[in-house]
Amino acid sequence: MGGDTAAPDRPEALAGCTVVLGVTGGISAYKAVEVCRQLVDLGAHVVPVLTEDASRFVGETTFSALASERVRTSLFDDADPIPHTRLGRSADLVLVAPATAKLLGKYAAGISDDLLTATLLATGAPVVLAPAMHTEMWEHPAVVENVATLRRRGVHVVEPDTGRLAGGDVGAGRLAEPSRIVAAVLHMLQVPSASTPPDLAGVRVLVTAGGTREPIDPVRFIGNRSSGKMGHAIAQVAAARGASTTLVTTQGPVSIPGVTAVDVDTAEEMAAAVLAKYDDVDVVVMAAAVADFRPKVAAQEKIKKRDGVPEILLESTPDILAALGERKRAQVLVGFAAETERVREHAAEKLAAKRVDLMVANDVGAADSGFEVDTNRAVLLDSSGASEELPLLTKVELAGVIWDHVGRILRTPVLKRGSS
Ligand code: CTP
Repeated sequence: MGGDTAAPDRPEALAGCTVVLGVTGGISAYKAVEVCRQLVDLGAHVVPVLTEDASRFVGETTFSALASERVRTSLFDDADPIPHTRLGRSADLVLVAPATAKLLGKYAAGISDDLLTATLLATGAPVVLAPAMHTEMWEHPAVVENVATLRRRGVHVVEPDTGRLAGGDVGAGRLAEPSRIVAAVLHMLQVPSASTPPDLAGVRVLVTAGGTREPIDPVRFIGNRSSGKMGHAIAQVAAARGASTTLVTTQGPVSIPGVTAVDVDTAEEMAAAVLAKYDDVDVVVMAAAVADFRPKVAAQEKIKKRDGVPEILLESTPDILAALGERKRAQVLVGFAAETERVREHAAEKLAAKRVDLMVANDVGAADSGFEVDTNRAVLLDSSGASEELPLLTKVELAGVIWDHVGRILRTPVLKRGSS
């Protein structure tokens, strides 16, 4: 633990943030003391909540002395009859470190039989879990499924380390180092940490997000299921890594630190907003689900039912990404390929046709990937022919991987950037 510090140069990075720190019963509960100390050092208001089992491994007095409030352990030892809702509402983030297999199972199943699990169900704040357990338990299908369920719901899981475990065994399941846990907290609260590389400083990026809406009449439109979450995560991460970031979105109004947002509705409006900025940016990420067809004519007044079923004639919308590909100078173009079958093949065709540098192909047919959910499963294809299949990631994590790739492309001389 010695010398393990998350962000020594950002002493007040968490000032004004309330973090509920849940601790469950495992040998590594002692490391939660160091997590608590680092959070307090960063200015966070830390409220420790220990399970009954945790109290067997680590002293309540230690936490009470280090944290911002005394330790809480029970739903019933407070004057407040509903401490879990108060804690859940006041939290800017709930962190559980270590999180045992039991905690993961109860949380995934929606069981709330103590103060910590009740708080987890009562909060709307981001949740970070740092699991720790024996390798056999970490790899058990029940635990694997619970972790996948929680990730799908937007919970951030800090992968355990591989190393020495209790009892002398060696394997995966060791609680992540406190600095990695605290870095995840900073990341979820969108605070650039010492470990957030400012590697995009000076880079000008334009990101599109959301599904366009093509009007049929003043109240109806042709739309799609895109929620804008992926594009917003890409803009958020770009800004956190230092890029000058513009977001053109159909899901506004949005407020993302460091991001200039432009609200649009239709493909036509999105095309105009993107093309107006194109010459002044270094990277464009087209995460938007742009409608391919629109009604040729939008009725001026609401179409009335009594006039019968209307026949709506459709026409093509502009293909924004293809237009960017045609006019490309030194810009890096990133496209998304939303597919339900033959994902790689279709994505590779689009990459070549639209002169894209990096294509993020995702299977939007899967329940845990694509539209509306907080996670995504993607394959990255680049113009040199290389591809990388990524595991299930939160959209914020995937955004980080995309920017890592874009960073590499930006560092490659334009003439050597693949076939485009
Ligand atoms: N795109 C665009 N303008 C359009 C349609 C798509 O800029 N009118 C962009 C999307 O933002 C995405 C990429 O092109 O980055 C691929 O979009 P996708 O919907 O997967 O493919 P399409 O080219 O529309 O082809 P299809 O719908 O037939 O799969």
